Amino acid sequence: MNRATARAPVNIALVKYWGKRDDRLNLPTNNSISMTLDNAYTTTTVTFDSEMIQDTFLLNDVPRSGVEAANVSRVLDLVRSIAKIFWRATVVSHNTWPTAAGLASSASGFAALVAAATRALNLNLNLAELSSLARLGSGSACRSVHGGFVEWEKGEASDGHDSYAFPLPVKYNWPLRLVTPLSRRFGPKGVSSREGMQRVVHSSPLYASWLTTIVDDLDKTRRALLDGNLKSLGTVIEGNALKMHATAMTALPPIIYWQPLTVALMGVVFRLREEGIPAFMTLDAGPHLMVLTELSYVNRICEQLGQVPGVDQVVVSAPGPGVQWL
Ligand code: PMV
Repeated sequence: MNRATARAPVNIALVKYWGKRDDRLNLPTNNSISMTLDNAYTTTTVTFDSEMIQDTFLLNDVPRSGVEAANVSRVLDLVRSIAKIFWRATVVSHNTWPTAAGLASSASGFAALVAAATRALNLNLNLAELSSLARLGSGSACRSVHGGFVEWEKGEASDGHDSYAFPLPVKYNWPLRLVTPLSRRFGPKGVSSREGMQRVVHSSPLYASWLTTIVDDLDKTRRALLDGNLKSLGTVIEGNALKMHATAMTALPPIIYWQPLTVALMGVVFRLREEGIPAFMTLDAGPHLMVLTELSYVNRICEQLGQVPGVDQVVVSAPGPGVQWL
């Protein structure tokens, strides 16, 4: 038996990956930039066993079948083909974060899976290779390999060998925080990011303009991270998220990820800013809102978001480490 355990963090995109140039290889049409969270992650143990006849997958103690299990086996097949073995595996994963709610749990999930599976088979991949492999599970998973702030280079090659993530330089000791109000009301998301992107690329009249603004958003984000300029960073990332959602809303049929609670929380962010508190929102392909700020404003923001009816808990995350083997 060959076994290994790895932990991979959730990452939240500040400049979103939105649209693929290759659906099978998860190759993006644009670069993206994310923050790795210190307190949201997936821990996965993979055990390969030559006696087993099929893969099994348990997530949060529940055996999974259908698409979820098939996706895990698809990624295990890639690892098996590199190792040139046919052994089946047991995969046991735990998330500290809501699953499939537009909170990037698939990113930490696939990054932990490839990290554990390759280690179990003694494949010594470097972080760029691990990032490329994680990308084949779910695009954004390639960013969950690294800690801190991370850019995913879209690459140009049709086989995807130049499409992987790398860490970005950031102002030393900058106390950035991401504040996430959680609510049971949000539930699992309606339209997956995979389906959302496809629909947007093929039908939203705004998708072409989204692409023309990305290079500028990336430049401004890199610069603001280096300078430690929260106002500039927040303005760009909030605009980027809203543009992404505008493309979704104008797809055919339209995709509206927001719920009444999402809009109520947006109102709180705008009010805080009017009161002089630098708080900026981002949203992935789901109803959850996440608020970027600095440590000294966190208490005030938590207090305000926590008072909105429907919010169960407010979680504060700092930039955290990348993949770790346990
Ligand atoms: O990696 P996927 O297929 O789950 O897509 C992620 C898409 C967004 O979360 C909306 C943006 C991103 O860059 O993470």
